[in-house]
Order: sequence, then C-alpha cells, then structure tokens
Amino acid sequence: MKTNKYCLILLLLISISYSCIEKKGESKDLYAGMDDKTKTRMQQYYRQGKKLYLTHCASCHQIDGKGLASLYPPLSGADYLMKDPVKVACIIKKGISGEIVVNGTKYNQPMPSLDYLTNIEIAEIITYISNSWENKSTLHEVKTVESITKGCL
Ligand code: HEC
Repeated sequence: MKTNKYCLILLLLISISYSCIEKKGESKDLYAGMDDKTKTRMQQYYRQGKKLYLTHCASCHQIDGKGLASLYPPLSGADYLMKDPVKVACIIKKGISGEIVVNGTKYNQPMPSLDYLTNIEIAEIITYISNSWENKSTLHEVKTVESITKGCL
C-alpha cells in the first residue's frame, strides 16, 4: 500500500514538471489584453509558427533563438527583428545578403530565400519569433504580411 502512495506522488511530480516544460518559451503575457477570438487565433498562429520555425529556421538561428557565433544572428532580443517584426517578411521570402548589424554585432553571411513559405506560414512564424524567448510583440495577421510581401524587391 505504502509503495502505491509513493508512486502516486511520483506521477504527480512528473506531470507537474511536464507541464512546466511545455509552457517554457512562451512569453508570460502572450495573450494580454486580447479578446477571446484574438486569443484563439494567437494560440493557433503561435503553435503553428513554432513548428514551422523548428523546421525551417532553427538549424541556423537555433532552437533558443540565440543564433550561432558570428555566422547566424540572434532573433531573441534582436533589435533588427523587434524594430518592426512584420517587416522581416521580405527577408524570409527573398533571403538577404550583405552586411547587417544586429545588437551592435556585424553579420555578413547570406540567408537563403524561403519563398516556398506561404503568407500565412510567414505570419505564423513572425508571430512566434516576435513573442518568444526575450521578445514580446503581438499577433501578426496574414493580411499585413500579404501587403508587405507584395512590395518585396
Ligand atoms: C541557412 C541558414 C538560415 C536559415 C535556414 C534562416 N536564416 Fe535567417 N539569417 C541567416 C543569416 C546568415 C542572416 C544574416 C544575413 C546577413 O548577414 O546579411 C539571417 C538574418 C535573419 C534576420 C535578420 C537579422 C536578425 O537577427 O534579426 C531575421 C529576422 C531572420 N534571419 C529570420 C529567419 C527566419 C524567421 C527563418 C526561417 C523562416 C530564417 N531566418 C532561416 C541564416 C539563416
């Protein structure tokens, strides 16, 4: 009987720690000030965005968004991204090359174009990266991304 009780406590502890791991990464006030409808959309965008980020971006920018040495710039806490997150839609769509400065550090490696990603996928990715790690922004709608990507050079 005694062993069973311990097993139960152990199971409880395991499930608590799992729920902690699951929450890790989401900004605390992800849904602050949002009505229920927006919150639901935000949840969908964020979850999808995370999956897409892990598939298409994390190999260079890393799972924790911190980038890699002087090769790949960080996204977490990045002034370049956070100045106007939705503007990076064109970088995702068309790639970028030449020198750029992120948080005072110079980077100069080409990022390939990921033009197989659709506007909705880009909106989800931008929503995810601008609301993860050290970043806090808002929901970035597909409509806004659409109007930005129309104007990419
Ligand atoms: C093959 C590696 C690679 C992949 C994959 C990649 N990037 Fe990049 N990314 C780079 C490099 C290198 C730069 C810096 C470009 C330069 O120096 O001109 C960069 C720059 C950026 C920047 C602007 C600088 C900053 O840190 O804010 C953003 C934003 C960005 N990438 C987002 C993404 C997103 C989102 C994805 C996935 C959809 C992605 N990247 C996929 C290599 C990559």
